[in-house]
Amino acid sequence: MARKKLIAGNWKMNMTPSQAVELINTLKPLVANDEVDVLLCVPAIDIIPAVEAAKGSNIQIGAENMYFEEKGAFTGEISPAMLDDAGIKYVIIGHSERRQYFAETDETVNKKVLKAIEHGITPIICCGESLTQREQGVTIDFIRQQIKIAFLNVTAAQAASVVIAYEPIWAIGTGKVATTEQAQEVCKAIRECIAEIYDDATAAAIRIQYGGSVTAASAAELFAQADIDGGLVGGASLKEEFGKIVCYK
Ligand code: PGA
Repeated sequence: MARKKLIAGNWKMNMTPSQAVELINTLKPLVANDEVDVLLCVPAIDIIPAVEAAKGSNIQIGAENMYFEEKGAFTGEISPAMLDDAGIKYVIIGHSERRQYFAETDETVNKKVLKAIEHGITPIICCGESLTQREQGVTIDFIRQQIKIAFLNVTAAQAASVVIAYEPIWAIGTGKVATTEQAQEVCKAIRECIAEIYDDATAAAIRIQYGGSVTAASAAELFAQADIDGGLVGGASLKEEFGKIVCYK
């Protein structure tokens, strides 16, 4: 079965609750493409008004992070049950900004992935190399390690519905989009890694996105690659351009 593309926005730390509602209302008519899954991952405080604003449209709302414990004395954190209760079906896990500024590691990513799955929330697991790693020629090795640890104790049946976002760090927010060849090469290697960990059927089912300076101009070519099943879009998801990315064909 062909994989349905998932085109997701990552708003990061942008948009107040009222701005979120306004932007969703603007985007609704622009993203009416039923051939793809459309998702906006928004700041925690925007989730409830965003879910309300997106009702009746094809926009699903996701979260940008969550903690790996059930509940308790973890001031400032958001639990999986809170996301679930708010109607959230997807959560970004291990974005490079969280790894860089908030000390997330492959191990905490794995814990969060397991916890999200336990609560029926699909994790979008982020991976990606730095510019130095790319120049050193260790990109694929590094990403295979990130993937292997992220999927520890995840069953094949669970893995099949997980989403992976390949986001080279040097391409995030820099305007330097990876070439389609670079993006396809790594997404293919990720799929091969999943086939090694599990089997061919799991590898064929799992969705792998590309992220990093995706724009309306680059989307069509990227999404046409055999192993690229959509995108994780930062900057361009904060404006009407996101509609053009969703309707990339
Ligand atoms: P960008 O961000 O599209 O602004 O490069 C992508 C991301 O970090 O998910």
